[in-house]
Amino acid sequence: MSHANQQDPVRVDVTTGTQTSTILIGEGVSAQLGALLDDRHVGKRRFVVSTPTIWRFHGEHIQQALGAPGEPILIADGERFKNTQSVGRIYEALIRAGADRGSVIVAVGGGVIGDTAGFAAATYLRGISLVHVPTTLLAQVDSSIGGKVGVNHALGKNLIGAFHQPALVAIDPLLLRTLPRREFRSGLYEVVKYGMIASRDLFDRVTANTKAIFARDPAVLEPAIVESCRIKADVVSKDERESGLRRILNFGHTIGHALEAVTRYRRFRHGEAIAYGMLAAADLAVVRGALAERERQALAGLITRLGPLPPIGDLPIPDVMAAVRRDKKVVHGTLHFVIAIEIGATMTVDDVTEEELVATLVRLGLSHATIETRM
Ligand SMILES: NC(=O)c1ccc[n+]([C@@H]2O[C@H](COP(=O)([O-])OP(=O)(O)OC[C@H]3O[C@@H](n4cnc5c(N)ncnc54)[C@H](O)[C@@H]3O)[C@@H](O)[C@H]2O)c1
Ligand SMILES: [Zn+2]
Repeated sequence: MSHANQQDPVRVDVTTGTQTSTILIGEGVSAQLGALLDDRHVGKRRFVVSTPTIWRFHGEHIQQALGAPGEPILIADGERFKNTQSVGRIYEALIRAGADRGSVIVAVGGGVIGDTAGFAAATYLRGISLVHVPTTLLAQVDSSIGGKVGVNHALGKNLIGAFHQPALVAIDPLLLRTLPRREFRSGLYEVVKYGMIASRDLFDRVTANTKAIFARDPAVLEPAIVESCRIKADVVSKDERESGLRRILNFGHTIGHALEAVTRYRRFRHGEAIAYGMLAAADLAVVRGALAERERQALAGLITRLGPLPPIGDLPIPDVMAAVRRDKKVVHGTLHFVIAIEIGATMTVDDVTEEELVATLVRLGLSHATIETRM
């Protein structure tokens, strides 16, 4: 069933325990969705979950690919709908339609839809099959891989969740054509992160081909997605539950999460906060003598090249530090800080002091006025 001008998709496997989940990456894979599910005997009845925005762009195409699966379950767009209420709405639609253990949820969307629909799949009838069709770059390189699913609680982000490996992740770079530039860039910072933690080659290719990547030229974009997926799949296969190795994926996330929290998730797209977090982690590494200054400059140069970031000069350091401490409490009380030792390699350190972090935040340009008045 191959088309003359279409290359076979690249396959990457995530193997955890006894389960294998398959990632297929390639232009046009979303058009073959129905056949791919048939081949793999994934789910007799297919329930699509998406948002009105994404469905307007890609609904017809997906519906055709799946062979008219009926009405999609549409959840309102946005992080604030990543909650148990939306999950409840998915349950309701499934129950009314008589979905059984042999049914599959096909999540068509960004990380918000993937996480929400994925949590419904993990819990409905104690778990039914899940297929991801990620439509943002962030979802294609990050959130659709690794099996973490879940929703936010009014008191905190991602507090309710489960591990539920998808049977299939179908990654089609063509779906990114309609993605707003800022969302695209947000995902690109995670690609830079993969370069920083595991592949200088990926880092260099993004640096050398920024323009082609922004033009979403498949010849450049697709290999970058493939390599990112390989890195995440490899890490997750070795450490699904984040007992050690998986932490390296959190490079840039300690400070990044704190910046998102102090701005109530309104100022930054996730990747933008991570961009600052990576700059902070690189700065701290240079001060510790673990990373060469020219490596830090290469990172800073690339981040500048990718475009403007929201300002941080008004954010009070004590607030950011409080957010870091709260985050740390959630993760067993020790701050495992991932620092870069060169482009393509990291190490985890457990002895980062608050003074060190504050000094880094000062150099990053955050507001330290409040600290001085306190002293
Ligand atoms: N499960 C994990 O391991 C994991 C990892 C990283 C992030 N996440 C989660 O992912 C979420 C963020 O995901 P995101 O950045 O994809 O955001 P998102 O899902 O909110 O999507 C961003 C925006 O892009 C729009 N959009 C999506 N695809 C489009 C397309 N092809 N064309 C046009 N518009 C499109 C959406 O409607 C939305 O407005 C967060 O909730 C985060 O917690 C989860
Ligand atoms: Zn991230």
